Amino acid sequence: MVFTKEKYEFMINGVIFDLDGVIVSTDKLHCLAWAETCKEWDIPFSEDINDMLRGVSRMESVDIILKYGNRELSGEEKASFADAKNKRYVDLLSTLTRKDLLPNIPYVIRELRNRKIKLAVGSSSKNATAILDIIGISDWFDAIVDGNCIHNSKPDPEVFILAAEALNVHPRNCIVVEDAESGIIAAKEAGCLAAAVGAAKGFGRADYELDRIEELLGVV
Ligand code: G6P
Ligand code: MG
Repeated sequence: MVFTKEKYEFMINGVIFDLDGVIVSTDKLHCLAWAETCKEWDIPFSEDINDMLRGVSRMESVDIILKYGNRELSGEEKASFADAKNKRYVDLLSTLTRKDLLPNIPYVIRELRNRKIKLAVGSSSKNATAILDIIGISDWFDAIVDGNCIHNSKPDPEVFILAAEALNVHPRNCIVVEDAESGIIAAKEAGCLAAAVGAAKGFGRADYELDRIEELLGVV
């Protein structure tokens, strides 16, 4: 684990987890669904572009893909393109099981619950609640704030401010776990601590960088 800042004096009473790419490997399914849809629409796509879509809403993702693919679509075409991706994505979600949870997530969540830490999910995805239900883990969390609850997706702090409120814990006493640069920015803007995992590591704005999720237990 890398401590990128000094140790904090605030107690951590709440942990807010991003969903895709932090709790469950659905980030790979987003990537697959975008890749197949882009192929069908003859729009360039790559894993580097996919990394820019982490934490970003569906329609904002369309704009990023078109910008990097140097393509323009009408408003109506953009909506059909986004719908086509979401249909593919939702089909892929039906196969999810607990095996798709990221390594050691059940253990870490169980430990945090034993320590009486409040737990939330804070995701920009409108499919987040369905994903937790499909896997059967909704009751692991005290609050779930998803893309249907917010007006602005990450890097806007709205999702994490709402999640901290739902937990009844001040943002400065919450730590956000994120795999998206946009999510790290959102967490810091919300006044939370931020722990970067996966693709968000090396970004430089997180308070902690975790190589393995169990390292969170040394922070909280
Ligand atoms: C998460 C993912 C993004 C995705 C967004 C919206 O934040 O990291 O890649 O674009 O949710 O997902 P949705 O399921 O609503 O299309
Ligand atoms: Mg994510």
